[in-house]
Amino acid sequence: MPEALRVWRNARLATCDAALGTIARGALITRGGHIEWVGEESALGGALAAAGAAGASPEEHDLGGAWVTPGLIDCHTHLVFAGNRADEYAERLRGRSYAEIARAGGGILSTVRAVRAASEQQLFDESAPRLAALTAEGVTTLEIKSGYGLTLADEAKMLRVARQLGRAFPLTVRTTFLAAHTVPPEYQGRADAYVATIADEWLPALAADGLVDAVDVFCESIAFSVAQAQRLYAAARALGIPVKMHAEQLTNMGGTLLAASQRALSSDHLEYAGEAEAAALARSGTVAVLLPVAYYCLGEARKPPVAALRAAGAALAVASDCNPGSAPGTSLLLAMSMATRLFGLTAQEALLGVTRHAAQALGLAAERGVLAPGKTADFVVWNVRSVEELSYWIGFNPRRTVVRAAEVLRWPNTNP
Ligand code: NIG
Ligand code: FE
Repeated sequence: MPEALRVWRNARLATCDAALGTIARGALITRGGHIEWVGEESALGGALAAAGAAGASPEEHDLGGAWVTPGLIDCHTHLVFAGNRADEYAERLRGRSYAEIARAGGGILSTVRAVRAASEQQLFDESAPRLAALTAEGVTTLEIKSGYGLTLADEAKMLRVARQLGRAFPLTVRTTFLAAHTVPPEYQGRADAYVATIADEWLPALAADGLVDAVDVFCESIAFSVAQAQRLYAAARALGIPVKMHAEQLTNMGGTLLAASQRALSSDHLEYAGEAEAAALARSGTVAVLLPVAYYCLGEARKPPVAALRAAGAALAVASDCNPGSAPGTSLLLAMSMATRLFGLTAQEALLGVTRHAAQALGLAAERGVLAPGKTADFVVWNVRSVEELSYWIGFNPRRTVVRAAEVLRWPNTNP
């Protein structure tokens, strides 16, 4: 059966292809789940003829002059977890720091205990509402990290749940192996041995099961060193798996420079990065992923070097970092708002940060993140007068319609 041809007309497009790539009176043609053509509505007739649609009557969607962007991409989340850490948040409000709580056996390790105790079904059920909240905002692709299991079986459990969520919800899930999140109790005082185990045993096993799209490491004073990250990266490279990095969140350990030297997909957080890191990221094409919700929630004083990153020409992405410790949030739109107000991104940078650059941070630039021929037909129709509104509203969701692989998604009571 030939793939369905659909026409989406009367749209204001922010293609995110070249800068915002605005087309004031634009249209799209999709074939099957992909974009076939994007352009001025006035050229639609010719484009349809070229698409071989002469005589056929493709399904037509009049978008009523609304703004359309690529489907949003949340490129950094720890969305699969059990329980929560509201008690630690209360402690932090009383003045205890994130690092102190972690050193005392709380922090990531308290979520590790909850995840190990949870069944796969429970983990799925607790995580699903968070995913539902993100999809309702127009997120059509998201990354989910492991890192709260820290045994082979529990890391596998997390990654399977992440994959399962991707099948249950109308979006694309990419899974990242983050066993190098913290040293588990079984390896206390033996971090090198732990890194060797995850690099030489767990990673190949999970990769063989098709559960790993990328490998990540938390390079930090309370987590892993640059040498340990390098050890893990070597194992990833041997398997042909791309790498990512949590770096310079609480201190500067040199993680970003390693990530750039290894052509990592992204280096994330970056509050303690400076000009050297910015230049290295720009040179290597490694995306700088900013996580303003974690910055906000930890009450950090130091901001990522946005001016230096911009001046160097680094690609900036923005993500929710959804996790129970530093960023208990399920709104990518809020992360955009915070990236503009707290970090000084422009509205355009924030939008590119959740579309084109977020795709790049996941190694998906060839297939999504922009509205262009050949890309997956994931896009969002918004109830806004300008795309600046996407980083303006706080706690308000102006999503009208989400289209995933050229199919209109329907939620109850949301698409009048
Ligand atoms: O991205 N930095 C490390 N990982 C998470 C926090 C995880 C947690 O506290 O549970 C982050 O902020
Ligand atoms: Fe994170």
